Amino acid sequence: MILCDTLEDLTRKAAHCIAQYLESRARSKQRISLILSGGSTPKTLYQHFSAPPLIDKMPWEQLHLFWGDERCVPPDDPRNNYRLAYDAFVSRVPIPLENIHRMPAEGPDPFQAAVQYETHLRQFFSGSSSNFPEFDLILLGIGADGHTASLFPEEPALKETKRWVVEVVSDKLEIPRLTLTYPVINHASQVIFLAAGFEKAPVLRCLSLASVGSSDFPFLQVKPIYGGVTFFIDETAASQFDSKR
Ligand code: 6PG
Repeated sequence: MILCDTLEDLTRKAAHCIAQYLESRARSKQRISLILSGGSTPKTLYQHFSAPPLIDKMPWEQLHLFWGDERCVPPDDPRNNYRLAYDAFVSRVPIPLENIHRMPAEGPDPFQAAVQYETHLRQFFSGSSSNFPEFDLILLGIGADGHTASLFPEEPALKETKRWVVEVVSDKLEIPRLTLTYPVINHASQVIFLAAGFEKAPVLRCLSLASVGSSDFPFLQVKPIYGGVTFFIDETAASQFDSKR
């Protein structure tokens, strides 16, 4: 866990860590795969990728970008996660267009869109011996209710064990979404969580306890089978940590 003073400190440290990790993976693999998160926390982080020094460090030719979840809105909608990344860095870095794998969530049928993206992922990972794709790095945020990607408390998507991508249609959500499922996330080589803001402090407190106990926040179910998990948390999000530890 990396505790950061401020959001700016968090995004700078996380951006450098991500670039260094991807650069190291690119030394041993032809194609490396990064899952981007939506939300406001990564926005500043993404901007670091489109400016020196990181724009010159990132292995753009080998890097393939995917999304962990998406709202069912057109790609030019300001709520769209692809647009968030496109505006923050994708439109301003030398990444080949064919390396950008957007979730096509804007259609009328979220189920069909989920099937379509899963098919695309299966094609990209067709050489893999595993039943699930092994992404090099997955970036995730954490909501104030403990959700991550679009894996929300008490939603059926939490129980999915076979599909790689599912639709999230719930009267608790303003807009239907698509999300990667736990089996995919838990097959990643590395997961990085980004969490900042006082509103995250109550759900993050469990990270400071000897045992998370009965907490069943969705983000706690992210337990990569082979990979590692790193939390970048700012002081405000850690403000309810149990200081006795
Ligand atoms: C999204 C994200 C979502 C986000 C969290 C935290 O599409 O919004 O996938 O899981 O990461 O809600 O969002 P903030 O970074 O804005 O706090």
